[in-house]
Amino acid sequence: TTVEWEAESYDMGGHDTYMHKEIHEQADAVDRALRGRIDDRFSTVHLGGLNLDARDARAVRRVKILGCGTSYHAGQIGAQMIEELARIPADAEPASEFRYRNPVVDPDTLYIAVSQSGETYDVLAAVQELKRKGARVLGLVNVVGSAIARETDGGIYVHAGPEVCVVSTKCFTNMVVSFGLLALHLGRTRDLSVADGKRIIEGLRKLPAQIEEILAGEEQIEKLSKEYADAKSMMFIGRVRGYPVAREASLKLKEVSYIHAEAYPASELKHGPLALIEPAMPTVAIVPDDDLLEKNRAALEEIKARSGRILAVAHQEQEKADHTIVVPKNEDELDPILMGIPLQLFAYYTAKAMGRDIDKPRNLAKSVTVE
Ligand code: G6P
Repeated sequence: TTVEWEAESYDMGGHDTYMHKEIHEQADAVDRALRGRIDDRFSTVHLGGLNLDARDARAVRRVKILGCGTSYHAGQIGAQMIEELARIPADAEPASEFRYRNPVVDPDTLYIAVSQSGETYDVLAAVQELKRKGARVLGLVNVVGSAIARETDGGIYVHAGPEVCVVSTKCFTNMVVSFGLLALHLGRTRDLSVADGKRIIEGLRKLPAQIEEILAGEEQIEKLSKEYADAKSMMFIGRVRGYPVAREASLKLKEVSYIHAEAYPASELKHGPLALIEPAMPTVAIVPDDDLLEKNRAALEEIKARSGRILAVAHQEQEKADHTIVVPKNEDELDPILMGIPLQLFAYYTAKAMGRDIDKPRNLAKSVTVE
């Protein structure tokens, strides 16, 4: 299916920037990504352009996801979803790194190129190298008919609609949702049960309303961004599902506010970065209510013990945090889709308070079509 982009969607519609507008378009965008794809009868999804029949899907022994920037982060979450739901070993790597290390190309690996524009040179060149070596490559792309969409063997359009702001928000969310669909599809051709398939479908269906709920809390996030805007540097932490969320949130803050930020797995704090913690270095912690909750809480305690300020994004108020942004709970596997959204607003309001050129940050381009 293709979706026609309406001319009026390029209007600002009362928003001061495209970034703000695109953040607010996410419930509709996710709705579009789900539309016509859910198959309740078999608790799975149909992905028309995938070009991968059930036998092909079952023959996949590994999944390798390639992308750049925000799309690479979406791929990291996607790899975890595929491992969790389909139990296929999966990982993500920056496309340019992959290309230059003379990778072993394996016929039983399914390669997935992720790109908003479908024109990023590093990703396209990786696709061409893979094709040359006989690999099967799918695209997870936003722009219909783009170079990567054309050169891959099949794929999924993420249907985020046009994204104008240089930093990606709604496209990231739709990429992660699309990976959720792919993971469910692959899982249901293997050992994911009907009941688990149903559970994931119900979770996917809840997303648009939960996104609206997060966006309705915008005022709190605007206030919080002012509390932290004096920071010269910020630490972002998360574990497993929360770690790529932390990486993407830290990238978003850097890109639009120019505040230095780093992302670490919370478990790695004690192996080095804890030395940086002091009141002038606040930490943003991703704390989902899953089996790692107690471990995450322990990390917050370690930070508090060093007088670090903490902003938590969690499913319930965190006692050790100075502030908590509470997000609605979904299924554990789908939580990463929602947990980054308040931090898009956090980056936006921080940049706004600092008077940054939000839609066109210095030194950056929306798509990098050269090496
Ligand atoms: C540029 C943009 C990033 C984007 C990356 C990949 O660096 O500034 O926001 O994530 O390219 O772009 P793509 O179109 O391939 O997703």
